[in-house]
Amino acid sequence: MPRKIYVFIGVQGSGKGTQAELLAKKFELCHISTGDLLRSSTGELKTKIDSYINQGNFVPNELILEILKERMVQHDCDNGIIFDGFPRNLEQAKALDTFLEVTKVIEIKISDSESLKRLLGRRVCEKCGRSYNIYTSPKPEVEGFCDICGGKLVKRADDNEDAIKKRIATYHNETEPLLDYYKDKLVSINGENTIELIFEELIKRLS
Ligand code: AP5
Ligand code: MG
Repeated sequence: MPRKIYVFIGVQGSGKGTQAELLAKKFELCHISTGDLLRSSTGELKTKIDSYINQGNFVPNELILEILKERMVQHDCDNGIIFDGFPRNLEQAKALDTFLEVTKVIEIKISDSESLKRLLGRRVCEKCGRSYNIYTSPKPEVEGFCDICGGKLVKRADDNEDAIKKRIATYHNETEPLLDYYKDKLVSINGENTIELIFEELIKRLS
């Protein structure tokens, strides 16, 4: 059976990470979030990467491709891969075509105002990385702490209003054109629904 390769596209806060994690568990695929990979870098590389991310700017394509290629060859990716946050522009999409055949592209649609609200309310566990939201969902059982590992919940450095607005504008200018590039593989889903209902719809549309 060919390896399944799924790509999630959606404005910041649309729930790419949330849904990709659920799908990866259900289908036993690896979930590759370029944002998470970049945030887990260390040393001098981290200082360089943070200077892009925290201002809401893209990290250069060459660096993204280098980090991705290392991650994709790990054994948990043998069944297939879910890309979350990659590709983000035409150049990255064309590069992906040179090494893998994409099965389906999933667009999660939300408005810019919902995006801003969710990102201002997002809190992430500093230990395990799980996402929560003080305005939407999921809310932690104990305020300020992760339900799973008890770690402290913190705000991501790029979840500030200026960086969020810049990221949303860049999404419309650079990433949205990919929807046309992938029109034959596209599955579009309304992201302004509960996490559970969106996932149900996603599974239906992929089967
Ligand atoms: P990345 O980490 O990918 O951030 P992003 O693109 O800004 O996307 P988010 O993670 O903010 O949104 P999401 O859609 O995953 O939403 P989530 O599920 O968390 O990238 C960060 C940065 O790295 C980029 O800005 C760039 O600098 C760099 N980068 C990354 N990839 C790159 C690339 N390929 N090229 C160049 N640079 C790159 O959900 C958001 C919140 O909403 C959470 O609090 C969640 O609990 C809540 N929520 C989720 N679903 C729902 C729902 N249905 N209802 C209500 N609340 C919900
Ligand atoms: Mg994410």
